[in-house]
Amino acid sequence: MRIAVITGASKGIGLETARQLSDLGHHVILTGRNKAALVEAAGSIDDAEWHALDVSDQVSVAKFFDWLKAKHGRLDVLVNNAGRLYGGHGSTVLQTDPAVLTEAIENNAVGAFRTLQRTLPMMARGGFGRIVNVSSGMGALTDMGAGAVPYRASKATLNALTLLAAHEATANVKVNAVCPGWVRTDMGGQSASRDVETGARGIVWAATLPEDGPTGGFFRDCKAIAW
Ligand SMILES: NC(=O)c1ccc[n+]([C@@H]2O[C@H](COP(=O)([O-])OP(=O)(O)OC[C@H]3O[C@@H](n4cnc5c(N)ncnc54)[C@H](OP(=O)(O)O)[C@@H]3O)[C@@H](O)[C@H]2O)c1
Repeated sequence: MRIAVITGASKGIGLETARQLSDLGHHVILTGRNKAALVEAAGSIDDAEWHALDVSDQVSVAKFFDWLKAKHGRLDVLVNNAGRLYGGHGSTVLQTDPAVLTEAIENNAVGAFRTLQRTLPMMARGGFGRIVNVSSGMGALTDMGAGAVPYRASKATLNALTLLAAHEATANVKVNAVCPGWVRTDMGGQSASRDVETGARGIVWAATLPEDGPTGGFFRDCKAIAW
């Protein structure tokens, strides 16, 4: 049975991704910062586990991976889903406090970097791995609009880290970025065009790629999109 860790899984797309991976036979470990929400979320999925993990906190990341190694000894699937919208959709270059820009990159990109740095060697040892960085079309350099400056910059950074990690990944370890589309969650809001089931589907596809599947790509709805 594949072991899958999902970050930011207490709600939204992360929780739905955990649910779909569990339905496909994975043992899922839901991680996040909100203990009460995680307990409830994990309780809604058969045989799911939960563990505290704040990806912006190096100590929390170290504690989580120590626990994971001691308990399971391996990791097959990592979904770097944790993310926040900083400064709102309207935030411009001139309005953005550099400290908020730093915080967004720290949480949304360096957070994923911390977990994938610890995961790649485990996956190399196991000879199998699927890492999915949940990104956004708002981070695509080829489609960079105005506004949401800290968020867009953080997702562009995450995209770069995806490619860099894919180059270093060993055989049968795949690292991809996925945009879930505009999804009705606390972040996406109720006017968004997609439900969480649809949003999670492309992430689950990348998390369950066959050995001849792609790596180092950026996808939406299981199709490659421009970086
Ligand atoms: N919704 C959309 O339309 C959309 C579109 C494109 C991309 N995305 C991406 O999809 C992912 C999930 O978004 P969502 O819409 O499901 O948002 P959401 O409902 O707000 O959920 C975000 C999750 O990430 C967690 N999180 C944030 N920072 C964290 C940290 N440092 N450590 C651990 N967990 C952390 C949150 O936990 P807390 O409650 O503790 O903050 C929450 O569980 C994000 O990366 C987002 O950028 C979403």
